[in-house]
Amino acid sequence: MFPFSRSVLSTISPPIPAAYKWTTKSHRQLLDMSQGVPGTPPHPMLQQALAQIGNAWGYCPAEGEPALREALAKEMRSIYGLTKGDENVDITSSDIAITSGCNLAFVAAIMAIADAGDEVILPVPWYFNHQMTLTLLGMQPVPLSTSASDGFLPSPSLAAQLINPGKTRAIALVTPNNPTGAVYPPELLQEFANLAREKGIALILDETYRDFIIPESAPHSLFNKTPSDSSSWRSHVISLYSFSKSYRIPSHRLGAITASPTLLTQIGKILDTLQICAPRPPQIALASLVPSNSPDPSGESIPLLSLLHQDILFTSQAIHLRHALFKSALTTEAPKWKIASQGAYYAFVQHPFPGRSSEEVCQRLVEEVGVRVLPVAFFGGDSNRKVDGEQDSDADRYIRFSVANIDDNSVVGVCQRLAEAESAFRDWTV
Ligand SMILES: Cc1ncc(COP(=O)(O)O)c(C=O)c1O
Repeated sequence: MFPFSRSVLSTISPPIPAAYKWTTKSHRQLLDMSQGVPGTPPHPMLQQALAQIGNAWGYCPAEGEPALREALAKEMRSIYGLTKGDENVDITSSDIAITSGCNLAFVAAIMAIADAGDEVILPVPWYFNHQMTLTLLGMQPVPLSTSASDGFLPSPSLAAQLINPGKTRAIALVTPNNPTGAVYPPELLQEFANLAREKGIALILDETYRDFIIPESAPHSLFNKTPSDSSSWRSHVISLYSFSKSYRIPSHRLGAITASPTLLTQIGKILDTLQICAPRPPQIALASLVPSNSPDPSGESIPLLSLLHQDILFTSQAIHLRHALFKSALTTEAPKWKIASQGAYYAFVQHPFPGRSSEEVCQRLVEEVGVRVLPVAFFGGDSNRKVDGEQDSDADRYIRFSVANIDDNSVVGVCQRLAEAESAFRDWTV
């Protein structure tokens, strides 16, 4: 047999299928809070647009359909301009490339700025596909510890200590976070952006879950116009987006990179090689839904798909209410299970069995009480360290619950079964 790539062999196997191998011995229906995917089909308007796509079987430009890039730029000006107005946001369609999903956006972005042997700082727990991408490419993920006491928010000063001159190429953050649900405040993101600019490295922001917080203000102000080009976000920020969750089209594989046109020229080489172009039918379908009879002749104030935007807001309000329900049901039904953080799609919960790993708890939850959730160990979180570098003995006690695709009755059912687990696992001390 021929040898396999050392990088591929040193990369972990996809963790989610491992959780799907656990089978329940319970006679009851399995309650599944493991999956971070939308629970309902796309909006009927989008389904109809997808069904009506005509001629879309040819390639389009590697960086995407111009109409969708234009619409997305407008959408981003509206979202990041919520506090100070669209006109203060410095994003145009030439800053945007459409990718075959956000995972590929990360691959392309990191390949454009780092080489094998380089280092990339990732807060722990991390999104496992980021870590897997780095190891597949021979790059070194450098764990940045976070803790429940800080709401799993990463520290810019700790990150600064991890920067290895000449080796570190980027800090990659996910906000709102997968798996912790933590939403990074705008000021914290600004501090990370300042650090990246000062050190001449990139700040990569994966904003896949951006639309699932109730928008009272802009998610951050990194894209604001600045007095000079030299202070613009383009020298140090790369933002990634996914259409999978907001528009509920994960199988259509659409994501986006927002970066300087100079970097996008380099990224274009990678996109041309890896994807040629992102799937064209959903790009055309989405672009066709941009309102054409805009009351504002410039169209500036109309976000992409203003109708679908209402639908996204509706989903995010429903998820928000489900988070509240989960919190109150857990407090009443299973108070020994403690929510450490929650937001957007996820709640991150500490289990009540000291000394037991998150993975063994999750496996028993499936087998004995019919609840499927994901252990922090799948997100590298079992290796989280305390600020002083000591191994954190509680680091492997967290479990990710997805509140995105489950109904309210099942949420309460899950909490009741967590309480049952305390007596079902009676060979363990609580
Ligand atoms: C943080 C994060 N980034 C990217 C993705 C993948 O997005 P896409 O379907 O657009 O590739 C996910 C999916 O769960 C995710 O959690």
